[in-house]
Amino acid sequence: MLQTALHYSHTLLKEILQPGDIAVDATMGNGFDTLFMAELVGKTGHVYSFDVQEQALNTTQEKLLEADLSTRAHLYLQGHETIGMILPRETPIKAAVFNLGYLPKSDKSIITLPTTTKIAMDEILLRLAPRGRLILVAYYGHVGGVEELTMVRDYCERLPQEQFSVLNYQFINQKNQPPILFCIERKKN
Ligand SMILES: C[S@@+](CC[C@H](N)C(=O)[O-])C[C@H]1O[C@@H](n2cnc3c(N)ncnc32)[C@H](O)[C@@H]1O
Repeated sequence: MLQTALHYSHTLLKEILQPGDIAVDATMGNGFDTLFMAELVGKTGHVYSFDVQEQALNTTQEKLLEADLSTRAHLYLQGHETIGMILPRETPIKAAVFNLGYLPKSDKSIITLPTTTKIAMDEILLRLAPRGRLILVAYYGHVGGVEELTMVRDYCERLPQEQFSVLNYQFINQKNQPPILFCIERKKN
């Protein structure tokens, strides 16, 4: 059976993340991606996770503690647009993931925004390791969602093919705006 965009994002992460790697969860939310990547990077790797909502941090922290993985992640109560202030330029990010939109069952007015998402994408690409992947799963059914989706699509289409391969994964015959996945992979130097 074909995988949903969300499931496929985990397949794409699992294919590349290995013990010792550095990963970024740019939209922590309920912590599913942080937990998933904390398992994959092992004891020697690390996950840097961002969200602007305290609830997201608390839920993610609980999940990590339950799984005894809390030492593998740093959780930041700040926007992903500040990644450049947290991770030095030479940090080799092996994988980064965004789930664009709002946190389900939470305040629907707190959404990711094109301007800050773009800043974070720029900062991550500056640090993306060879064969590293930047994955975005865009939910766009809410007000402002289409603008952000358009920004991400345009951004991806403009990336030079000599340096990056870009994948777009979506179901084109489904109702209710199913999420659309983009995966940017840096080519080997
Ligand atoms: C679709 S949810 C993420 C779901 C998450 N991946 C999970 O596993 O549950 C989007 C999240 O982005 C967060 N967000 C909004 N603006 C942000 C920003 N500038 N930086 C980081 N996170 C942001 C929201 O608070 C929300 O929790």
